[in-house]
Parts: sequence; structure tokens; C-alpha cells
Amino acid sequence: MAAIAPPRTSVPDPHLIGTSVPRKEGREKVTGRATYVDDLSFPEMLYGTTVRSTSPRGRIRNIHFRPNIPWNEFTIVTAKDIPGANTIALLIEDQPCLAAEFVNHPEEPVVLLAHPDKYFLEEARRAVRIEIDPFPAIFTIEDSLARKQIIWGQDNIFKSFLVEKGEVDAAWSAAAFIVEGEYETGAQEQLYIEPQGMIAKANPTNGVTAWGSLQCPYYVHKALVRLFGLPTEQIRVVQTETGGGFGGKEEYPSMLAGHAALLAWKSGKPVKMIYDRAEDMVATTKRHPSKTHHRTALTSDGKFLAMDIDFTVDGGAYATLSQVVLSRGTIHAAGPYHCPNVRVRSRAVATNMPPHGAFRGFGAPQSVFALERHLDRVAQVVGLTPEELRRRNFIHQGQTLAVHQVIREPVDLAHLLDRALDLSAYHAKRKRFQEENPHSHIKRGIGFAAFLHGAGFTGSGEEYLASEAALDLTPEGRVRVFAGSTEMGQGTNTVFAQIAAETLQLEIDRIQIMQPDTAMVPNSGPTVASRTTMIVGKLVESAARTVQKSLFDSGLLQPNYNQEAFAAACQQYIAKFGPLQSLCKYQHPTDLHWDDATYRGDAYGAYAWAIYVAEVSVDTRTAETRVEDFVAVQEVGKVINPVLAAGQIEGGVAQGIGFALYENVVWREGRMSNGQMTNYIMPTSMDIPPIRVLFEEIPYARGPAGAKGIGELPLDGTAPAIANAIAHATGVDVTRLPITPEVLLEMLETVHA
Ligand code: MTE
Ligand code: MOS
Repeated sequence: MAAIAPPRTSVPDPHLIGTSVPRKEGREKVTGRATYVDDLSFPEMLYGTTVRSTSPRGRIRNIHFRPNIPWNEFTIVTAKDIPGANTIALLIEDQPCLAAEFVNHPEEPVVLLAHPDKYFLEEARRAVRIEIDPFPAIFTIEDSLARKQIIWGQDNIFKSFLVEKGEVDAAWSAAAFIVEGEYETGAQEQLYIEPQGMIAKANPTNGVTAWGSLQCPYYVHKALVRLFGLPTEQIRVVQTETGGGFGGKEEYPSMLAGHAALLAWKSGKPVKMIYDRAEDMVATTKRHPSKTHHRTALTSDGKFLAMDIDFTVDGGAYATLSQVVLSRGTIHAAGPYHCPNVRVRSRAVATNMPPHGAFRGFGAPQSVFALERHLDRVAQVVGLTPEELRRRNFIHQGQTLAVHQVIREPVDLAHLLDRALDLSAYHAKRKRFQEENPHSHIKRGIGFAAFLHGAGFTGSGEEYLASEAALDLTPEGRVRVFAGSTEMGQGTNTVFAQIAAETLQLEIDRIQIMQPDTAMVPNSGPTVASRTTMIVGKLVESAARTVQKSLFDSGLLQPNYNQEAFAAACQQYIAKFGPLQSLCKYQHPTDLHWDDATYRGDAYGAYAWAIYVAEVSVDTRTAETRVEDFVAVQEVGKVINPVLAAGQIEGGVAQGIGFALYENVVWREGRMSNGQMTNYIMPTSMDIPPIRVLFEEIPYARGPAGAKGIGELPLDGTAPAIANAIAHATGVDVTRLPITPEVLLEMLETVHA
């Protein structure tokens, strides 16, 4: 019998937090009404395209325009046309917006063209030839470190860090076991569904406006200010509906907005630039390839004595965000363990590849893979199970991480491990596979990884950002949230609406999330580092509290109000006192300290903790690996929207499966040579196992409604869990990602030879 729904009343649901309310923009997305950048069009709009370097490194000698094209119909922009500084302003200003004299990587932008006909434009693009005197180039971490050529600064090093705790060098002599290993990870393409795209209008009277697919409106804003040399109020950046970012729309949109705006400035017309998949794959950022060396000392009973970790990432040709990616990778390198002596030395080096950039996890997936794979090998040497080795070394409340951060929040990794191993039937399966494997060419294995992920900017980063978010009330009792945080599928709109609605005791549809538009919203910092819910969500909560208090203080609203009473109070308040709004600014907790000089202190306000278990089968005839089952257990503070939160974990695990098994960037002279989805293989739904997601909720006192960040977490633990499962299944000593059949086949031959 069908249940009859109770009649809707205007009494608000008091339990919005922890409820899977539908995605705010979901209806627009599924009905096709959502406006992505390519859906926008302006009268007289031109299309723009980019002519790029075909050489990894050299001096631009000449630019040839083949005579069969009516060039007078085209807007042509080179570095000479830039009104301000020829740079993409971010951290260090080493990257030009358009190469002027030298090129430092393949696909580096040199010339921009615009024309009303995009097909003719493509013909024209092919008719431009950039003549380059080649210089010797560098394509690997090893060659960069060996300084075979100096291609950046004095020594090819963008940045290096040293994290030190205790006395590593003094620990080796007391060790019962010393285990070393070296681990590598490859580049990975973000593969957001919607490629990069931007539209710009620009002229000396009105300044520059850019609309586009992006994560960080104020990053783009800052870059355009510098590029055009205009006052900040002359630059406006608007985020259009964004079909995924995954870090890939953190820095690159500044470049593309710059290009579209330069063409618009010179032509006097709006210019649209949309990359197709091939251009997006070869020209924009990817995950940093990495190399990690581990040397670990243990006591006779398997306790860590010392960890000496050396971590290097390949930054590509320009500094971009490599130093912050390196920083996060460095801090996460020693994992969720207690170890009295730890040293992490790290560096980001230059190569003549397109700059590598932000990708979900931001350096941590690289260093966590190395650690968690290494620990399974350590366990073998010490004679413990992978499980027992971790149990003996898990960090507990009150102990310190490698960066000397005292863990003040409750943490119980052993309990998370129990839950994860139970749910995955780990022990039974481990035993059964060991018995069955010798009798089959299908080898099964099960493995896990333990890890933590810090939410928000590192160290003093949040203090420096000083983010703001605002909220106002309309006379109808509606709430508008103004934040620079963007929705890119991860749930910003819905989570902000839930936080505001819960705080104000209203229904969710009373909340409107304003479009991120720098002319309208304050700078809430970038939508990165899993910081939106925990940091900016907290500002939304505080702003909501403030306006609510104003209503109470005015005497126009009494506690335990309903929606009608709230609307009436808003109307009266605004009529009497004027606009009712609140702007909240981030206040750094006074008990969180970070020292950039020693790289010590409270690296993050909060960590999420997790255990992921992967079950695989490997067909030893084809060396193909399938992930058969996956369990993801994590402690993330209070879960605000269970469906969206589980979606974050499921999507991240899928991306982690790609990172582990399939996604292999093939480089030729610094250029991605498999920039098509037919030969850059990503997992499809057929390759994804059931993913069982479990949240352990311990409310975090400083998070909105107790929430911590979760967006990047799932990328850290997925690949090492899979690698450990493959090692268990086959006995192969996996040390490198991705574990493609080609790689595995070779390794299987050595094991079974
Ligand atoms: N989820 C979806 N659907 N789309 C995305 O682009 N980006 C990831 C993650 N989850 C992303 C996503 C990355 S790289 C980050 S840093 C976080 O979301 C950012 O959002 P948050 O601050 O809300 O976690
Ligand atoms: Mo996410 S890599 O911090 O955008």
C-alpha cells in the first residue's frame, strides 16, 4: 500500500543538517536549463583560438602568416599587445600570458587569433607557423635534479621544504630493521566533463569582464588586474555553471580569461574561447608526477623509530602552484602515524613540460601512495601483517605529527580500521584468496591504506586569505548568500543553503545562493583545498547568526518562530532600519600556530581520517586488474548532506582507480602524445566496483554544524589500497603508478620466472 504523504506545513524541518536535500542546482542541470559558458552568446561575438609552441624550449625567431588567408579579417594578438604586465599573476610572476621571446614548453601560447567564423579560424590557426631556434630541454625529474641544463632560476628548483622532528640520523644505529624503497607516480588529467572555456568583453571605457568555467573568481580577477594594468573595480569575473574542476580550473582559467580578454580588447568585440578536449588535454595542467624515497627504521617489535622521506614533484616549465602542491604533499608524507624521528625533504623541480597543477589531493595522493605502499613492504620485512604494523604505530590524541602538530581532536584509527576490515570481510578473504590463488590464473587480493587529509589552506594560509562571506534578508523573508565559493558539482550551493536554513530555522527553498560574480560577492578565497564547507560554510553560519540576532534584538522576532513570523519580522525590520545584512570575515583561531621558517606547527585546523580497503582480481594471462570491491571508511566530522558526501567519496574513489590502474600520460619531448580519450584510458562505470561508503561522525567544534572538509580525501587512499591488493594477489612488488597491464605483465614475469 502506498503511504500518504503528510500535508506540507510552513513549520520548518528542524533537521536540515544530516539530511540529503536535493542538489540546489540539480533541476537546472538535468533539464538542460543551466547556463554553461558555451551556452552564452553576445551580439557580434568573435571566436578566439591559440597558436602554440611546437617546441619544448627555444627562442622565437619569427612568426609566419601564410599568405592564402585574408589576415585583415582577423584580430591578431601577440605579447606586444598586452596593455599591462605579460604575466599570469599567482605566486611568482614567471609565467608569461603569451610567450614573447622564449618558449619553455610544448603548447605554450604565442599568438591569439579571433574571427566571427570558428571554422575559418581553425584554418587560419593552421596557417600560422612559429619558427623557433631550439635549445636543449629537460623532461625528467632526474635530469632536472642533475642540472643537465639549467632551465629555471639558478638550479631548476621552484621550491624546497624540510620538515624535521627528533634526530633521524641518530636513530639508525638503534634500529632492528631498516627498510628502503622508491616510489613513483605519473601525471593525471583532471578530465572534468566540461573543458575550459571563457568569454570576455574588454575596452578602455568599461574595463574587462570575463565569464567562464572556473574555481576561483578572485584568482582570475587578480590575474586580469595585472595583465591589463587596470584598477580592481574595472575588472569583473563571473563564474558560469561549471562542469567539474577537480583542481584543473584553479590556475588555468586565469590564462584563458587573459587570452579572451586580450582579443576582446584589441577587436572591441566580445570573444569566446572554448577548448576542445584535445587542446584541453595537451595544453592545460595535470597532476604532478612524483618520486619518493623512503628509509624507515623500526624497533624489534615493529614500532617506528625513524622515517627519512625524500619527495620530489615535477612542476613543469613555470612555478604556478607547485610550491603549495609540494607543501601539502610534504606534510602528508609521514601519514597518520606516531614516529619520534621524522625528516621529510622535498622539492618541486622544473622540466620543459606544460606546468603541472592542482588536482584533487594536491600532492598528498602522490606522497600517501609512496608511504602506504612502502608500509606493506615494511610489514613483510618486520614479519607483521600490514594491519598489525599500522596498529602499532597509529597516532593517538595528544601525540604529534611530523610537523610537530599536536593532535587535539579525538582520533581512533584502530576503530576505523576495525570497521573497514569487518565491512570488507578482509580477514576471511585474505585467507581464502591465499588458498585459492595457486589454483587459478585469476589471482585475487585485498589491501588497504590508512591516511589523513587536512582541510583548508596550509599553515598560515587561511589567516592570510582572510576570507569573507555575506548574507542578506529580503523583505519577503528570503535569504541571499553572497560568496566567492563556486559550485563545480561538489555541493557548495546545497551545503551553504543547508547551513543557512538550519541556522535561521527556515526551509531550504528560502535560501538563494548568488552567482559568484566579483562585482557582487566578497572574496571568499579560492574553491580549493576542501575548504568550502569547513571554512566558508562557517562564515555563512556566522553571518546567519548575526542577522538572526539583529532580528531578535530588535524585538521584531521571538525565538521558536515559524516561516511567516520570520518574513513579517524581515519586512518590519527593513522598513524601520534599512537593509539587513551581515558580512563575516575569517578569524584565525588563536591557539593554532604555524611557523613558515621551521615548517612546524598546526598545519591544518582539522584532519579527516580514513581507512580504504580494495579487493582486486588480476588475470595473469592478460595482466588486467579489476577492482572487485571497495570499502571507504572515514571520520569527517558531521556530515551535512549524506548523499552529496557519499557522492564525493564515490567520485573520488573512481578518480583514484583511474590514477592507480588506467590513466597513463604518454610523453614525447614534453608533449602529451595521447591527448584523446580513445587512448588516454579513464575508468568507465563498467570498471567501478560497488563502493561502500561509511562515515564516522565526530563533530568538529570549529566546523559549521561540526563539519570538516572531505572533497579531496578520497584521492589519497584509493591508489595505495589497490596497489597493496595487487601486491597481495600476485606477489609483485608494485612501486609505480599507474599499474597498467603493460607494466604489470613485465613484473609478473619477473616474479614467476
Ligand atoms: N567534486 C565534483 N563533483 N567536482 C569537482 O570539480 N573538485 C574536488 C572536490 N570534489 C570537485 C569535486 C576538489 S579538487 C576540491 S579541492 C574540492 O572538491 C573543493 O570543494 P570543497 O571545498 O567544497 O570540498
Ligand atoms: Mo582542489 S586540487 O584543491 O582544487
